[in-house]
Amino acid sequence: MLFDLTGFKILPVIIPDGILFLSIFFPQVFANESKTIERLIELTEPRGRDAQEKVERIKEGEKAYLRFCVHCHGLHGQGNGKASSYLRPLPRDLSLGIFKFRSTPSNALPRNEDLYRTIKKGVPGTAMPAWGDVLAEETLMSLVEYIKYFSDRFQIETPDFKMSAGLEPPYEKHSVDKGKVLYKELRCGRCHGEKGERSGRLENKLTDAWGNPSVVYDLKKPGLYKAGFSSEEIYHTLVTGMDGTPMSAYDYVASEDLWHLVHFLQSQQKSEEIPPLRMSQKIVSYPTSKKIGLSPEAPVWQGIKSVPVKLRALKSASGKPAVINIQSIHDFKHIAFRLQWKDETPDTAEPGARFYMDAAALQFSSRSGFDSIYYGMGERKKPVNIWHWKADSFQKVEGRLRIKNKWVAVNPFSEKSVEEMNASGFGALTVQSLEDQQVTGKGIWKNGGWTVVLLRNLKTASPFDVQFRESMNGLVAFALWDGKQKEKNANKKVSFWQQLQIQ
Ligand code: HEC
Ligand code: HEC
Repeated sequence: MLFDLTGFKILPVIIPDGILFLSIFFPQVFANESKTIERLIELTEPRGRDAQEKVERIKEGEKAYLRFCVHCHGLHGQGNGKASSYLRPLPRDLSLGIFKFRSTPSNALPRNEDLYRTIKKGVPGTAMPAWGDVLAEETLMSLVEYIKYFSDRFQIETPDFKMSAGLEPPYEKHSVDKGKVLYKELRCGRCHGEKGERSGRLENKLTDAWGNPSVVYDLKKPGLYKAGFSSEEIYHTLVTGMDGTPMSAYDYVASEDLWHLVHFLQSQQKSEEIPPLRMSQKIVSYPTSKKIGLSPEAPVWQGIKSVPVKLRALKSASGKPAVINIQSIHDFKHIAFRLQWKDETPDTAEPGARFYMDAAALQFSSRSGFDSIYYGMGERKKPVNIWHWKADSFQKVEGRLRIKNKWVAVNPFSEKSVEEMNASGFGALTVQSLEDQQVTGKGIWKNGGWTVVLLRNLKTASPFDVQFRESMNGLVAFALWDGKQKEKNANKKVSFWQQLQIQ
């Protein structure tokens, strides 16, 4: 919702007590037409060699943006990339020039270092990855330069000063107690609950400047602090606020009192670290002379190195990652993967429950090198091959279900527990024809967890399949669906690309 008043934008933020209007001073935020490189060059201030360097940096930034960011943030930075419809909270509309994570005063532009930090460290509890894990320092810097051109604000204004945090007083009981009183007096609990425990959408009463429901996260979980949970980072969040959200700036509160608040919040925190997603792991497929079969508990898997891979929910406020343990072996003819993960309830294809089944998927790219593909769903012209295992037919129900005296195929595409698919970009998922479906799989649920084996020939005749060769290096990513949590389709947990080596 945006009202235009003679060049000013008024962004309404609805809070439970009524409607509060925030005026943001920037004209024509939507003027966002042809942002060509030429125009960017024109706009860059420095001349001579400096200018040339800046142009190079912006070009590099554009290249990286189109590879890694466009799927979520969109071509013009408006937060409407192809993946955005799958994600909550939505990717930021960078064209409006409103930023949550700043060290600068409320309503001011972020500094380069603020943007750099967000891109590098990602936003915990959301789909925004920590790019510092996979992109070089210079690439991160070039992205900072490039995304600033989505908003005209950066051409009109200069970023403000960094707000000083002063000196942190000692963390002691006296300070925590004072913070507790202030937390009450300033009525933080309206939105955050008595002790900061509330999480969720504030009963749908709050919206943000982008017109979407605003989510508050459990302040007892330091790993979910989007702007960081070190003392100074929390201080900055309080003093600068999170623009565009109902979390306003407490810049009128004395510095000393803000520190007491920080200490109170820290006293409430349970140290549950949410580890950042990493892609740097290597999964090796080891050769074996033993027979490889489908049995998930066959002795052939004993002693094979297991690699724990973290997965993060694409659409969840809890941000709690899952871990899937991966092993792989091959006998020069077949290749098998064994996946193990914790899941307290087996959600199989039983009547009534079959719409939310436990499932896991492997996604392969035969191209090596991370740079080539976004980890989501492949890119156009660079399709990925997906093996999708579901806790149905082969497991308990043997393929068909008797519903009202009629036999119904549980899985509309095949009666196997694994479906092979190809994807090239979000929304472009195709199931392979039946004769191309050659992956078999079998799962067992036992003692609070699934063990699933997927098996295929190293080589196949299908041009849509990933082909495995000895000593090749490829990429593999994983996805999990928990039926209990009603996860289905895009509502899933995903990993980054992992390296796969066939030994
Ligand atoms: C998988 C989707 C996804 C991808 C890919 C992605 N982002 Fe984001 N990004 C998000 C989401 C979601 C948010 C919003 C988080 C929030 O509002 O709490 C976000 C927020 C941001 C912000 C907001 C900063 C602020 O202070 O408000 C910046 C800057 C940003 N992303 C830059 C990038 C850049 C640069 C890339 C590419 C290197 C990128 N993003 C790739 C999903 C994504
Ligand atoms: C009007 C509702 C409201 C009030 C009052 C409020 N907050 Fe918030 N606060 C929010 C929302 C919404 C968010 C999450 C914004 C987001 O992530 O988009 C938030 C986020 C935060 C965060 C997390 C920052 C991060 O890095 O993710 C902290 C810490 C916080 N608030 C502390 C406080 C304290 C302390 C007070 C009182 C002095 C307070 N809030 C008052 C709505 C409120």
